[in-house]
Amino acid sequence: MTTLAGKTVLLTGASRGLGVYIARALAIEKATVICVSRSKEGLDITCDQITNLGGKSISIPFDIKNVRKLSTLKKIINQFVGPVDILINNAAIEVCQFFTDYSLDEIQSVLETNLLSPIELTRLFLPSMLERRSGHIVNIASLAGKKGVAYSSVYSASKAGLIMWSDAIRQELVGTGVEISVICPGYIYQEASVSKNGLTTPHLAGISTPTYTTNAVIKAIKQNKAEIIVNKELITEFFTRLLFAIGQLYSPFVDAIYRWIDIPKFNRMRLEKQQHIDDSMIKSVVGKRG
Ligand SMILES: NC(=O)c1ccc[n+]([C@@H]2O[C@H](COP(=O)([O-])OP(=O)(O)OC[C@H]3O[C@@H](n4cnc5c(N)ncnc54)[C@H](OP(=O)(O)O)[C@@H]3O)[C@@H](O)[C@H]2O)c1
Repeated sequence: MTTLAGKTVLLTGASRGLGVYIARALAIEKATVICVSRSKEGLDITCDQITNLGGKSISIPFDIKNVRKLSTLKKIINQFVGPVDILINNAAIEVCQFFTDYSLDEIQSVLETNLLSPIELTRLFLPSMLERRSGHIVNIASLAGKKGVAYSSVYSASKAGLIMWSDAIRQELVGTGVEISVICPGYIYQEASVSKNGLTTPHLAGISTPTYTTNAVIKAIKQNKAEIIVNKELITEFFTRLLFAIGQLYSPFVDAIYRWIDIPKFNRMRLEKQQHIDDSMIKSVVGKRG
């Protein structure tokens, strides 16, 4: 697909973070954006920004975790918008925990939002793309799906699943006119979720900004890229790929590199910070009741 002009794009996770950057870039490319997430307020702000850029959008507040209800989302889109040309599976959640501290509900939420929902959305929207012999699916994964990240094991599993599932169906789609790409950012700086917690991301973990990641999404669609590892410079991307290739041969070596660049420590700090916020919220609720 060499141009996005006139295409209809279904974008999940459009209410905040990276999704807002992608929505704005799609508007600049003259695509119509169907913005989906739970927060109506967030979606309204994104749609206003699209309008200000001269673009077209529609917002549909929807909880994609309800995988069995995604067929209802498809009906709404078919009725009010029409066929989807591009599906961007961007919405995701991350829960940092030491593994045995996860509840089953947390594990299910992460896997349903990050993995099952993109798979089911694709199952629902792919047949129409195949009929029209045109379409593109973009899955936003993470470097956490290329190499497991301590204290975020379920998120890592969801993103690894997304990468491998994309890899498999890309081979089924050869010659159909429908393409699929997977985007793997590292920790995203600026407005996206990691930087919001006030912790400084380990510099040696590479630099992915919302703008680099958005550029990667547009490039993946226009140039039909199978997988993009997002990094500031090509040379860093090469070393990241090399590191993962070495990890395939001998993972303890890459474990040591990850410890050296403080990734497990950083995620542990994120976990402790989250627990501190949860404790303060409990104290403030109990305080108000008392
Ligand atoms: N931030 C990073 O450092 C980083 C690094 C690598 C990869 N990524 C990936 O990049 C993507 C975007 O991340 P981000 O940092 O922009 O995340 P974010 O700021 O937390 O935003 C997540 C988006 O997903 C939506 N969402 C979450 N659960 C949903 C649900 N059940 N139904 C519908 N929408 C839902 C949220 O909207 P509502 O809350 O309104 O529903 C929000 O719009 C994700 O796939 C993430 O895994 C992020």
